[in-house]
Amino acid sequence: MTTSTNTDPGTVLITGPSGSLGAATTLAMAERPADTRPDLILVGRLGERMSRVAAQARATGATVHVIDTDLSRLADVRAASDEAKRLVDEGAVRPLRAIIANAGMTAADTRAASADGYELTFAVNHLAHAQLIGDLIGSMATPGRIVLLGSNTYHQNLPRKLLGVPPARWRDPIELAMPAPADQKPSAQTSGVAYSNAKLAILYYAHELQRRAPQGIGVVVYEPGFMPGTTLSREQPPAVQRIGRALARVPGVSTPKVSGPGLASLALDARWAHLRGGAFVVKDEEREVKSFAVDRAREAHLWEATRELLDRA
Ligand SMILES: NC(=O)c1ccc[n+]([C@@H]2O[C@H](COP(=O)([O-])OP(=O)(O)OC[C@H]3O[C@@H](n4cnc5c(N)ncnc54)[C@H](OP(=O)(O)O)[C@@H]3O)[C@@H](O)[C@H]2O)c1
Repeated sequence: MTTSTNTDPGTVLITGPSGSLGAATTLAMAERPADTRPDLILVGRLGERMSRVAAQARATGATVHVIDTDLSRLADVRAASDEAKRLVDEGAVRPLRAIIANAGMTAADTRAASADGYELTFAVNHLAHAQLIGDLIGSMATPGRIVLLGSNTYHQNLPRKLLGVPPARWRDPIELAMPAPADQKPSAQTSGVAYSNAKLAILYYAHELQRRAPQGIGVVVYEPGFMPGTTLSREQPPAVQRIGRALARVPGVSTPKVSGPGLASLALDARWAHLRGGAFVVKDEEREVKSFAVDRAREAHLWEATRELLDRA
């Protein structure tokens, strides 16, 4: 671990920088004045979207490295960690100051498996980031921050009930990691529950991660607010996507343009430096999570289960 000055923004590694929130966050960091602008490591799948964001970020003068990674393949994730460490060790970027575990997805069919045989939504949202963070946390500079992406869908409220967005239904994490049986028909319900479970797992994981993190590393969870119309719903039926795009025009809903700078701020600004313990920040405000989202026994069990799942793959 390296220690660097409080004012040095160092390097920020972000996953899923190619679209929506990740792209807006990447550009919000790149567009900062040179003395507060971090170097950037973009971890995600190469393609036109990634190229565009990387080019836009470089055009600001930022140092940008792209690591081609499919987060549904743990071998890719491990290779990405190695490459990120190499960039830091060889001085191609400044010390690693923050990790933003932004990438996320909702598989429409919970029978779908990652390259390692795990349920895809759990694999990409939780397992890939647990692998990446576990690989890199020991190489981070202090003070440093790890920002995970949560979602309020982990619990039910009236608007989500009306929209048919189901809350988490927690089960043993080893079970959560298993694709649904072949005879289980895909449905919006099972897909939504898998997403909400993965986001509840991220809250539990964040609490345990803070207990195990080196001194000087703060772990926080960001909820960008409901951003309908992003590509998070790309696997949903066209009608659902149309509703998302329509809702995106409702005044007051969040957008990547608004929440991206918020996420960048959480990773970089002194304002948030005191946060620890998986503190939950919704848009621009720290909030309490529901009491069931803090559970020492589940958190410890998830930690062990995650280790077992990563070791197996
Ligand atoms: N949208 C909302 O209302 C909302 C609310 C609360 C929380 N969140 C969370 O905020 C984060 C960003 O959401 P968003 O709405 O911006 O989602 P999005 O538009 O779908 O963007 C997701 C990003 O993750 C990347 N990604 C997905 N699967 C990947 C894989 N296998 N390998 C590598 N990269 C992968 C995508 O890359 P590709 O371009 O390669 O697909 C994309 O860059 C997610 O964690 C989400 O759960 C969103």
